[in-house]
Amino acid sequence: MRIIITDDYAELSQRAAEFVAQALCAKPNLVLGLATGSTPVGLYDELVRLENDGELDFSQVVTFNLDEYLGIPEDHPQSYHHFMEEHLFGRLRERPRATHIPPAQPDDPLAAAEAYEQQIRAAGGIDLQVLGIGRNGHIGFNEPGSSLASRTRPVVLRAETIRDNARFFDSPADVPRYALTMGIGTILEARRILLLASGPNKAEAVARAIEGPVTAACPASALQLHPDVIFLLDAAAAAELQQADYYRHVEQLTRELQQRHARSHGAGQSVNVVPFAGRSS
Ligand code: GLP
Repeated sequence: MRIIITDDYAELSQRAAEFVAQALCAKPNLVLGLATGSTPVGLYDELVRLENDGELDFSQVVTFNLDEYLGIPEDHPQSYHHFMEEHLFGRLRERPRATHIPPAQPDDPLAAAEAYEQQIRAAGGIDLQVLGIGRNGHIGFNEPGSSLASRTRPVVLRAETIRDNARFFDSPADVPRYALTMGIGTILEARRILLLASGPNKAEAVARAIEGPVTAACPASALQLHPDVIFLLDAAAAAELQQADYYRHVEQLTRELQQRHARSHGAGQSVNVVPFAGRSS
C-alpha cells in the first residue's frame, strides 16, 4: 500500500490529477474507473483544466462509474449520471470514447448488474479505479456487511449513508434507498486503485481501512489485499492513523528513489522501492 498524506484538499486534488494524467499519458486508451461524491470534485476540476489547455486527451478513454442510485431518473439533479456530466464529461472539449454508469431505472436490476460486469470484461478490465470512502468505510455503495468478493449488484443503503447523502437532496425522505454498485470483488480487479479521502469526518474510516483488520465490517479494508493501491489523503483525513509519521517517511523515500531512478532510466519507468509501498510508478 502506498499512503500519501497531503497538506490539504487542493494538494490532494492536484496529486490525484497527476496520477490520472500519468496513467493516461502511458495509455491513451485507458479504462478509467470513476467515483462520485464531493471528494473527487477537485480532481475533476483539475482534469478539465488540463484537457481544456490541451495537455490531456480523453478521446480514446473508456470510463466506468462505480455506482448509481436506483429509482430516480437519470436526469435527476442528484443522479450520478447528472453529476458526471456536470463535473467532468460535459466540461471536456472532447468526450471520452465511451462512458458507462450503472442504469438508474433498469427494468431488471439483476440483469443490469450482470451486463455491467460483462461490459467491464469486454473493455479489458479497469486500469485505474478512483475511489472515495464513506464515513462507515463503504466503497462505491458497498456498505458494511458486503462480501469482500461481491460483484456488481443492487444494494440497500444503510441509514447513515442516507443521512450523509441527504445534504444533496431537499430532504432525507428524497434520498433513494437502493443503488446499483460495482462489488468489492469487481473493484479489487482494477489494476491500480486510487482512494481519495479528505476531511476530519473520514479520519476514522481511513484508519480502519489502512490499519484495522480486513473485514466486511469496513469494506475499504479489503483494499489491503490489492497489490497496487494508493491512499491519497489530506492531513485531516489522516489524523487518526497511528503510523502517519512512518507513512510520511516512506513516501519521502519513495519519491527520492523514483526521482533518482527517473534520472538514470528516463521518465515513465516504474520501480519497486520499498516493500511496504507495493508497486509504484
Ligand atoms: C457516496 C458514493 C461513494 C462516495 C461516498 C463519499 O456514498 N457512493 O462512492 O465515496 O459517497 O462521498 P463524499 O466524497 O461526498 O464524502
